Amino acid sequence: MKSFLSIEDVSDLDQLLKTAADLKKDPLKFRYLGKNRSVCLIFLNPSLRTRLSSERAAANLGMDAVFLDIGGQGWKLEFADGVVMNADKAEHIREAAAVIGSYYDYVGIRAFAELEDFEKDYSEEILTALHKYCPVPVINLESSTAHPLQALADLITIEKHKKTAKPRVVLTWAPHPKALPQAVANSFSRWTQRAGYDLVITHPKGYELTGKVNGNAKIEYDQKKAFENADFIYAKNWSSVSSYGQVLSQDPSWMIDEAKMNHTNNAYFMHCLPVRRNMIVSDQVIDNKNSLVIEQAKNRVVSMQTVLRTMLEQKDEESEGY
Ligand code: CP
Repeated sequence: MKSFLSIEDVSDLDQLLKTAADLKKDPLKFRYLGKNRSVCLIFLNPSLRTRLSSERAAANLGMDAVFLDIGGQGWKLEFADGVVMNADKAEHIREAAAVIGSYYDYVGIRAFAELEDFEKDYSEEILTALHKYCPVPVINLESSTAHPLQALADLITIEKHKKTAKPRVVLTWAPHPKALPQAVANSFSRWTQRAGYDLVITHPKGYELTGKVNGNAKIEYDQKKAFENADFIYAKNWSSVSSYGQVLSQDPSWMIDEAKMNHTNNAYFMHCLPVRRNMIVSDQVIDNKNSLVIEQAKNRVVSMQTVLRTMLEQKDEESEGY
């Protein structure tokens, strides 16, 4: 794995999940691997889990991690090529990426969708530009269209609790007062399908994800029907793709509550966090013993550590000339 931008950088998902299970048993076992290695974590947007779990994962491997709040403290960056930089952006990604890559061995970046221009967001302008101009491997800490570290943590969580090889997993839209990106839903759909799970996606009309993301998942507009026989309920809000970035509905009847969970196969409840209580999910469901939200968040350390360990081991193999 040279960089970790999306599921397309994962050649062997089973192996990645085995590496994760191994790390979970003994998180400090590979502390020697990251000696004299460093990672710079660039954030253009807020974070609790991604920032802290990345720092913990790096520390567990003996690496130095540095956090750069480009959104708040750094020079404002220009990502497009060929523009006259006569406005508020003081530095181009070409120079910034080259400089950061000369200081660190790995660079992570968080850059959310702006939700104004589908083509711009889905071209992954910022992630692609960093990857193009940065001389070291790049890690996606949530981009415009994907959150692969979250999806890996979600799979690690499901793998622990699943009772069948092919659990029935339901990704359900839930209401939210603000327009949110599709990144988490996109990655959850792609990763769970790659893992071979039986995926159902349920949402109101107008919230269809792209065809590539839907893949072979069953789309069910009746949420109650979708919940039947579910082993895992994964709630997430996202804004519309077809009416790009718009909030088309805040229908409270889509909130996950106990009555809906009673239609499932005693399903586990999942959400990536942060979550708005009694908007996305009722207190009773998120506080129930079947709620996995804290375990998912804990597994964010494991997922980042798995990615870093894979990259560090590969670098060692390269330097030994394998
Ligand atoms: N789930 C997630 O990525 O959380 P943060 O936005 O707090 O990093």
